[in-house]
Amino acid sequence: MKVASGVLLRAATGDDLQGVIEVGQQTWPATYGPIAGKDYVAMGLAKWWTADATIPAIRAGRVTVAEYDGEIVGMTSVGPLDGKLALWKLYVLPEFHSAGIGGMLMRASIAKAKADGYDEMVLSYLDGNDNARGFYEHYGFTETGRESTGGGVPDSVWIHLPLSNHPGETVLDGQHA
Ligand SMILES: CC(C)(COP(=O)(O)OP(=O)(O)OC[C@H]1O[C@@H](n2cnc3c(N)ncnc32)[C@H](O)[C@@H]1OP(=O)(O)O)[C@@H](O)C(=O)NCCC(=O)NCCS
Repeated sequence: MKVASGVLLRAATGDDLQGVIEVGQQTWPATYGPIAGKDYVAMGLAKWWTADATIPAIRAGRVTVAEYDGEIVGMTSVGPLDGKLALWKLYVLPEFHSAGIGGMLMRASIAKAKADGYDEMVLSYLDGNDNARGFYEHYGFTETGRESTGGGVPDSVWIHLPLSNHPGETVLDGQHA
């Protein structure tokens, strides 16, 4: 399925709240159930995919949604972390995977981070989320460290992407364009 040409990326508004939360509710069980278990999924949904957790990020303009045929099919959420830009969430509804939408969201996040003057993007994924690891490696991210979560949950693997030297960037006379 290739739908990316019909997909619109835009900043989320308050009207998107339920659609954004729905992305979490649909992607978390499928993504983390097999590697971290039901309790971790329930914890994450209760902590990070509520209205209280989502509204401030939307208000701050840190949430981007991918809309297809009037439906929110993917999203990202970003925020500053120690002078770098953290990609806190990147999720595409399972039935829309491998259609180019995650790539659109990733490229838009990188472009926005550069435009906002960041020279590094960071994020963590849960060890065992091999699909996410392969996806991020595809965009040039490399591992910087691991964090133990405890309670039988897999480690968080931190990765980063230096933006100033990102492949594909045009370099003219030693200046980054
Ligand atoms: C990871 C995820 C966002 C990828 O989104 P997607 O829409 O399926 O990815 P796309 O179809 O846009 O792929 C974009 C590019 O990445 C490549 N890619 C995707 N997954 C890959 C993988 N596992 N390994 C290597 N390359 C991969 C694609 O081949 C494509 O390459 P191209 O642009 O050169 O053609 C999506 O699978 C997802 O939501 N997974 C569940 C949630 C999750 O794990 N999120 C990350 C949390 S840290």
